[in-house]
Amino acid sequence: MSQPQFLVTGAHGFIGAWVVKRLLAEGAGVFIFDKSADPHRLRLIMDDAEIAQTHVIEGDITDGEQVSALVQQHDITHIIHLAGVQVPVCRANPRLGAMINVVGTVNVFEAAKNSGGRVQRVVYASSAAVFGEAEEGRAVSEGEAGSMTTHYGAFKRCNEDNARVYFLDNGISSVGLRPLTVYGPGRDFGMTSDPTKAMKAAVVGRPFHIRFGGKTDFLYAADCADAFIRSATANLTGAHVFNLHGATEHVADVVTEIENLLPAAKGTITFTDTPIAMPSVLDDTAIVAALGAVPHTPLAQGVRETVARFTQLHAAGRLDTSDLDA
Ligand SMILES: NC(=O)c1ccc[n+]([C@@H]2O[C@H](COP(=O)([O-])OP(=O)(O)OC[C@H]3O[C@@H](n4cnc5c(N)ncnc54)[C@H](O)[C@@H]3O)[C@@H](O)[C@H]2O)c1
Repeated sequence: MSQPQFLVTGAHGFIGAWVVKRLLAEGAGVFIFDKSADPHRLRLIMDDAEIAQTHVIEGDITDGEQVSALVQQHDITHIIHLAGVQVPVCRANPRLGAMINVVGTVNVFEAAKNSGGRVQRVVYASSAAVFGEAEEGRAVSEGEAGSMTTHYGAFKRCNEDNARVYFLDNGISSVGLRPLTVYGPGRDFGMTSDPTKAMKAAVVGRPFHIRFGGKTDFLYAADCADAFIRSATANLTGAHVFNLHGATEHVADVVTEIENLLPAAKGTITFTDTPIAMPSVLDDTAIVAALGAVPHTPLAQGVRETVARFTQLHAAGRLDTSDLDA
């Protein structure tokens, strides 16, 4: 069988970088499609020789013709769609948010539809933002989505519904994945990026305030990438939507882990003890039933690996801290 050719949209972003790293390790062809030509997040976790194996196409996901054309030109067989804007952008500019997050996702499905059957499945990033608030500690299952509190969550839910209709009308299978607080090197934007920023701040000896508290579902970036790639390569027919679950822990536990690793940071990382308006535990029984066991990196290990990487980059003079000022 010839080498699978993956199109990864938004691959210059945080989760995209981790997906690309794993795909290259597995020997897949990787086409990066992103509005940004800047590979700085790839460079946090890969060396230049690895990055040089990718093919980069700069473009806007709202340009449906470009997306369909590149799927044809490069014989794409698998699509992982991550391009999108997060809560702050959707809140400030809902029209732009809808164009990128909703129309952009429709464009990806159209490209799959126009591929003549070569692309059999679209895997796309949905989000736990499709849920409203739930009592702390109660695991929510897929069917409880609704009552979302942000345009971002409403757009993600709309994508899930469009995905279902693409299967009904055109037979295009899909998997939408719903992560909550993904963390690790490269996470630098959006409110739930604060725990990762706190790790970075501690490494460079700066104080940091995390803008939320309570318990949340922390998913390590490597586990998130694993779920996207396994969903893309599994033999799943239909329009599936799966919760992702990592480790449900209190923000105070992240602070403790950081302080254990970097005692000089003791007392310098603070947080506002208001939970985010989303469930703190996502039930991932459904994805386990579909794909088999999924990794659940314990928080202590994920924080340790993240701090270790930031420390390495800092020592090499390569740690960008501009996100700490944003
Ligand atoms: N990080 C999380 O905790 C989390 C949680 C739930 C869902 N998600 C979803 O996962 C996906 C990836 O998240 P991330 O954290 O890697 O985000 P990110 O902001 O780091 O990356 C998004 C990428 O999309 C690109 N992009 C934005 N607009 C574009 C456009 N118009 N055309 C082409 N590319 C464009 C950006 O340049 C960026 O490289 C997003 O859809 C996000 O909503 C993330």
